Amino acid sequence: MDTSRMGEHTRCVRAGERLDRAVGGVTTPIHTAAAYMAAADVEGAYRYPRYGNIPTQEAPAEKIAALEGAQAALVTASGMAAISAALLSVLGAGDHVVLQADLYGGTHRFLLAELTRLGIGFTLVPEADPARLEAAVTPRTRAVYVETPSNPLLRVVDLEGVAAMAQRRGLVSMVDNTFASPINQKPLALGIDLSLHSGTKYLNGHSDLNCGAVAGSRALLAPVRERAVNFGGTLNTYDCFLLERGMKTLALRMAKHNDNAMAVAQFLAARPGVAAVHYPGLPGHPGHDIARRQMRGFGGMLSFTLACPPAAAREFVDGLELALEAVSLGGVETLVCFPAVTSHAKMSRQDRLAVGVTDTLVRLSVGCEDAADIIADLGRALDAAGIA
Ligand SMILES: Cc1ncc(COP(=O)(O)O)c(C=O)c1O
Repeated sequence: MDTSRMGEHTRCVRAGERLDRAVGGVTTPIHTAAAYMAAADVEGAYRYPRYGNIPTQEAPAEKIAALEGAQAALVTASGMAAISAALLSVLGAGDHVVLQADLYGGTHRFLLAELTRLGIGFTLVPEADPARLEAAVTPRTRAVYVETPSNPLLRVVDLEGVAAMAQRRGLVSMVDNTFASPINQKPLALGIDLSLHSGTKYLNGHSDLNCGAVAGSRALLAPVRERAVNFGGTLNTYDCFLLERGMKTLALRMAKHNDNAMAVAQFLAARPGVAAVHYPGLPGHPGHDIARRQMRGFGGMLSFTLACPPAAAREFVDGLELALEAVSLGGVETLVCFPAVTSHAKMSRQDRLAVGVTDTLVRLSVGCEDAADIIADLGRALDAAGIA
């Protein structure tokens, strides 16, 4: 069914589906075969799971493309599979990429460990904006990569400005759109070439699956797909089923995440023991104006810095009952973590502090529970830890 003129909730529910016509089932069946007898309905390729072209794999990819406003999308075995395939679709030995400095720790690790080994240069730009990113462009630069809002400090980058700069300088522009989700932010409409996701997070939304996605034009997706197929990074059929099912409620979930996170951010901002709240929905956030322009909701992620010794911050997190201390984010349950010892643990202390990840920075993935319950939990734990 063509859902392109339909609303976002409809696209979440119906776009990309491959209904089970054989028995009249109203969902996409899990095709378990790893060998297919005929290629008649596949353009120029046999169906094979690693190629990512069996119907259970095509369904979530098409749904993501429909939500990103992209010609095509690919689902991958993890967010890092999406990020690595996208970067290596453009970059080869001797090339260079410009990136924003405050990135998800795993992406940072990939740059240090893999790009360096492959002879690909990179420059990390602190306080990234289009002008600072452009200043780092060299004759060998092929791509510009940003993450907005960023993990874990929720920094906001002007995507329209980055896209315009990339077009002027002949670069492929990429954004990690994980924190926003395609409901809150549509990078391709702002001129960005590739939108990337850890689908482990909001796309799936239930903390029971590791996956990723890349969306963009057919022309740019082709080499991304080739990398993912050659490196074996496509997503298996069972997880594709879970991902497609999870995404049916993406727009519904994001509306609740947006409302809950705003209420929690306002509550925390009013507590004297909270030195700073990093949430783009707060008017005082340095990226608020850009976020208002390029996002349709501010998302469910926030972080905050506690004005207390690390031991008291630890006591606060230990005192939480509803919020679960865990890595990852974007699920229906509220999760809390210390980025210094989780997402950014592999960074040197110096690099970590340089990007603003201090020992009392707490990251909160605000879930879909009742906002009043989340706030009561936070308030109780702050009080118990003696944090005003
Ligand atoms: C913003 C962001 N991008 C990418 C990733 C990597 O995704 P995955 O763990 O699915 O490989 C993560 C994981 O936490 C993330 O938070």
